[in-house]
Amino acid sequence: MSLLVANWKMQLSDAESAALAAAVAAADLGGTDVVLCPSFTALPDVRRVVYGTRVGLGAQDCAWEARASLTGEVSPADLAALGCRYVIVGHSERRLHLGETDAMVARKLQAVLEHGLQPILCVGESEEQWRSGAREEVIAEQVRSALTACAFTVAQPLIVAYEPVWAIGSGHPAAPMDAAHAASLITKVALEQCGTSAAFRTLVLYGGSVDAENARAFLDADGIQGFLVGTASQSADELLGLLAAIAGR
Ligand code: PGA
Repeated sequence: MSLLVANWKMQLSDAESAALAAAVAAADLGGTDVVLCPSFTALPDVRRVVYGTRVGLGAQDCAWEARASLTGEVSPADLAALGCRYVIVGHSERRLHLGETDAMVARKLQAVLEHGLQPILCVGESEEQWRSGAREEVIAEQVRSALTACAFTVAQPLIVAYEPVWAIGSGHPAAPMDAAHAASLITKVALEQCGTSAAFRTLVLYGGSVDAENARAFLDADGIQGFLVGTASQSADELLGLLAAIAGR
């Protein structure tokens, strides 16, 4: 069983999003759980398409409060009411281009949890941090600071996507062994922060230039239980090909 989270970013129109969602809903997903994260405006249309199917709906971000004077932001309460079950939190594009800090990520994570939504926390080092050997330190600190006020329950696993910034959209994925190493580090830090209850589970996804060619190698690496996929999730051909590759077809 693996999880594939499709991050459509701002790449598809509402009509394109609904059409792609329909193709996924009609596909043989095998043992893979699929979560579609269209842009905010496409959420209602995609929801109509996936309602009653096993395809999940997620948002790419949300505000850290339910009601506030935060012009342009989207409330986690409204996302929940719309039928979203997942929210991506702390994607590197938001950290890099929109000034999202670790402190903001921690508040968003908390807000998502408070509204009964499942956060997908993104962490990962930049190319410079990778080159300077700071990778482990950066990942550990991102996980630690995001989980400062953590309130995970046993029923709800923590989902963390390890996405090296240099691998996103570059065509150069991380080595599966390095992703496996990051997964064990993430799990260790999450346990330290959230308690060592035997039932507490961390699910680690890998993201960054995942496609039908390289996906299996990541699933074969220890500790990687699925993917956060951008580019290869944004057309029916590529996404269905990726799902087939994950299923070993
Ligand atoms: P990519 O994007 O698959 O295009 O590298 C991944 C992501 O940004 O989540």
